[in-house]
Amino acid sequence: PPLSSILSSHDFEIAAHSTLSKKAWAFYSSAATDLISDRANKSFYNRVWFRPRVLRDVKEVDTVCMIQGVRSSLPLFVAPAAMARLAHESGERGIAKACSKKGIIQCASINASYAIEEIVSAAPADYPFFFQLYVNKHRPSSELLLKRVWDLGIRVLFLTVDAPAPGKREADEAVRAGDILSTPMSGTSATRDKTGSGLARTMGTYIDPSLSWEDLVWLRSFWMGKVIVKGVQSVEDAKRASKEGIDGIVLSNHGGRNLDTSSPAVLVLLELRRHCPEIFSQLEVYVDGGIRRGTDILKALCLGATAVSIGRPFLYALSYGEDGVEHLIDILRDELETAMRLLGITDLSQLHSGLVNTGDIDHL
Ligand code: FNR
Repeated sequence: PPLSSILSSHDFEIAAHSTLSKKAWAFYSSAATDLISDRANKSFYNRVWFRPRVLRDVKEVDTVCMIQGVRSSLPLFVAPAAMARLAHESGERGIAKACSKKGIIQCASINASYAIEEIVSAAPADYPFFFQLYVNKHRPSSELLLKRVWDLGIRVLFLTVDAPAPGKREADEAVRAGDILSTPMSGTSATRDKTGSGLARTMGTYIDPSLSWEDLVWLRSFWMGKVIVKGVQSVEDAKRASKEGIDGIVLSNHGGRNLDTSSPAVLVLLELRRHCPEIFSQLEVYVDGGIRRGTDILKALCLGATAVSIGRPFLYALSYGEDGVEHLIDILRDELETAMRLLGITDLSQLHSGLVNTGDIDHL
């Protein structure tokens, strides 16, 4: 379908299903085992209800948001995701171009299909990026890579901690991979192996499952920038992150792709509000998983998130190249502005938990 007929992130998903290669679709859309977390990620936002305010002059609305001190035109960033090139030749470079035009930030994955230098050079000089790392079993490789990242001017590191083992993604395992796939930064290439074709598994063999909280000392011995822990799924770990002086956490179950039946992020967010409300002033909290609408973004922010990240929709939009990604950002902006007006607010600082009713899920 032509881009002009795409009205929502759902439309992009439907279009991508029909145009992507079987392998790309399987890798992008798949989630772990019975897809329970994946589905809950999407459906739980529907169990949070708005409590809009009226007669509040909503002529002008402002969606600007600061994420780790970096200005973003919207309260969202592109989640790190592997191998965007499966969607379109321009890959992560296409996403970078679109994001820089629209003023939002891309978090580039270590498993990207282009090297970080190539991704960054697709945007205007000095455009900000975030970088996501999986720690390599061979630690000097991670140190060298982060040196390159630092030299490019990147100062915000996302350390993904919810993948000491790859999830069991059967749809991905079932479709054979070609031999052409590579992830130049990770030191491994993603090709099929004897037992199947699961891309996450074959591409993740370098990831160190022995990583622990104590390794933050090692990380900080050479990384002087900010550190965000991605994949926090409990109040206990959120508190630990705060105690360790971490700058931010992403409440995430990895898009339902790793431990199936782990909680959707919105439930962890509610738990945090209940048991550790002080954390929101100690570090920035982000959520991801299943965010598809402007209303989903607003709900997460009402509940204390600074921003959200969005994964699959950007990959699906990229099947139209850079223009598709720009179009997706426009759609999200439009939905967000409309929802803000209808909720009765004109900038994001006015959001608070009194604007939502979480009664349907508070007892969970
Ligand atoms: C991911 N995700 C991910 N996370 C990460 O830290 N490093 C990575 O390399 C990847 N790779 C990746 C590939 C693909 C195809 C997907 C769909 C996801 C997880 C990602 O950052 C994010 O947590 C989820 O995608 C959020 O869920 P939604 O928005 O896709 O529902």
